[in-house]
Amino acid sequence: MQPPHFLLFLFLPILLPGMWADPEEPQVIQYLLTSLFANISSAEVSCVALVGDIPILTLHPANWSIHFYWPWVSQAAAEGDTGKIMSQYKIALRNIIRFVHDTVQQTEQHYPVVVQFRAGCLLYPNTTSQGFLNVGWGGRDLVAFEVDKQQWEAQQPSQVAELVSKSLNKQKSVKVLVEHLLSIWVCQTNFLALKRYGREILERQELPVATVFARTPSPDQLLLVCHVTGFYPRPISVAWLRDGQEVPPGPALNTSPILPNADLTYQLRSVLAVAPRDGHSYVCRVRHQSLGTRSLLIPWGRGHPWEWGAGCREQPLAL
Ligand SMILES: *[C@@H]1O[C@H](CO)[C@@H](O)[C@H](O)[C@H]1NC(C)=O
Ligand SMILES: *[C@@H]1O[C@H](CO)[C@@H](O)[C@H](O)[C@H]1NC(C)=O
Ligand SMILES: *[C@@H]1O[C@H](CO)[C@@H](O)[C@H](O)[C@H]1NC(C)=O
Repeated sequence: MQPPHFLLFLFLPILLPGMWADPEEPQVIQYLLTSLFANISSAEVSCVALVGDIPILTLHPANWSIHFYWPWVSQAAAEGDTGKIMSQYKIALRNIIRFVHDTVQQTEQHYPVVVQFRAGCLLYPNTTSQGFLNVGWGGRDLVAFEVDKQQWEAQQPSQVAELVSKSLNKQKSVKVLVEHLLSIWVCQTNFLALKRYGREILERQELPVATVFARTPSPDQLLLVCHVTGFYPRPISVAWLRDGQEVPPGPALNTSPILPNADLTYQLRSVLAVAPRDGHSYVCRVRHQSLGTRSLLIPWGRGHPWEWGAGCREQPLAL
């Protein structure tokens, strides 16, 4: 293989998994690279790679040497032609930097310029995989590489996007190289080796711990709070059951975003507004991969004492 002229590591916002693990949900590996070009003689590069939400490697900004977060990541890096790619990435980075400076000159853009790359692979449960490579400029999508068409496509109607996609499309060797890197190296060699060596970390599951308590912001309103924490991976389903029926989404139901804990687990809370003494029974139901087909059910029973904000903890039932 020719030395990569233009090895792409990449980029932008990432796919936030939904609230509940869809069996069709892909696993994601991505290389994110952000570079700040303060002026014509400067480029600061930062790079991180992730499998799902697990960081696997980063570059030291000063000398671009690779720091592996885990021993199994460096083991995986010893497989296939990964070593060869690793020996070429600094050349690729220098070429990317030169290309950006040239583009700034040709299109008469102004510094500072921030360019982001996001490259990686989606691996579906049916073993289909899909490589991707997106480039952002100034926080907006600029161009993307369409793997199926082996073609760069502009992602915005601008002179910069036109010029960049045109000039990249002219370089046949770059297209072939990028296609190979995404489809063969990232999607197969690299991803599969990481999954094999990192199984213990990547397939880790932590059980959710759920607590139900009540708050009384005013005499005619009761807020039932279901706080769920300590779970991993991130996808989870938390619902309220009223007399056994799931409460549909609506103004009375308010679920927080999923937030990270310090130990790489997650938490969230779901709050249901009800009228005090409305005669219904309420149960918080939690479903998560670590529970298999069971659900965690935490009741807020009828005739429960109104312990205003006292935080009644109930023993969860695993059904
Ligand atoms: C270019 O930007 C870098 C980083 O901000 C700064 O250290 C350097 O002095 C700047 N050079 C010029 C010629 O402005
Ligand atoms: C690169 O820089 C980091 C942090 O500044 C340092 O720990 C590391 O030893 C350096 N690596 C090389 C190859 O110089
Ligand atoms: C595998 O799943 C993905 C996503 O659901 C789908 O787009 C693709 O067509 C499937 N491939 C096969 C061979 O079934």
